[in-house]
Amino acid sequence: MDETLFANVDTYLEQTLLPTDPVLAAVLKANIEAGLPAIDVSATQGALLRLFVRMAGARRILEIGTLGGYSSIWMARGLPEDGRLITLEFDPHHAEVARANLERAGLGGKVEVRVGRALDTLPVLAGEGGDPFDFIFIDADKTSNEAYLDWAVKLSRPGTVIICDNVIRDGAVLDGASTNPSVVGSRAALRFMGGAGLFASAVQTVGAKGYDGFAIAIVDGEPS
Ligand code: SAH
Ligand code: DHB
Ligand code: MG
Repeated sequence: MDETLFANVDTYLEQTLLPTDPVLAAVLKANIEAGLPAIDVSATQGALLRLFVRMAGARRILEIGTLGGYSSIWMARGLPEDGRLITLEFDPHHAEVARANLERAGLGGKVEVRVGRALDTLPVLAGEGGDPFDFIFIDADKTSNEAYLDWAVKLSRPGTVIICDNVIRDGAVLDGASTNPSVVGSRAALRFMGGAGLFASAVQTVGAKGYDGFAIAIVDGEPS
């Protein structure tokens, strides 16, 4: 695989398609200065998420796995004026960096960062009885992906879009004998998405973040 070529093409696409964005550049710089790992989505992937948010006409977004809020900012920028995004993050330091980044992006009033293990904060969220989410992005610990999908469906309505990040991992997903918890988690997520009640596909991606992919599903009618 020509990783350098893929990364160069990604840079070319970013420079050609996306306006120079001092806010997003400052966010990535703040993340690095705060010691966060550079595992945010790429710029072209962020722009793709924003496109999906627009295509779905989403007003309520849920994200699982905030890191420094880079993907949150991309998705929130696709929301209408009265749209809201809730993002769940385990690490209080990541959450603090994300809140500062969201303020920097002028999105402090639109995005709420909730701190805690998502498997603890999701039941709380569900208990609040809010409207279903229109769009859900799952990008936290991959081992819990199947449980996150289960919650995602519970927090959905027919037509809700659910996206799961990092389901390819350099092709490691092919290895059914793998004991790597991330691979096991991604395979379980893909099986779940191929099951009843969801209408799914996945796209393999190459670029600045290497070889990976998104699984994308829409909640299709009655829950199974
Ligand atoms: N979506 C981000 C990247 C997320 S990286 C972006 O593209 O910008 C994954 C994040 O999930 C990390 O910040 C990690 O701390 C968080 N995480 C890991 N386990 C978690 C859990 N159990 N509950 C909530 N968040 C978790
Ligand atoms: C990892 C997590 C991610 O969400 C990602 O996009 C890339 C890498 C990781 O845990 O290694
Ligand atoms: Mg990811």
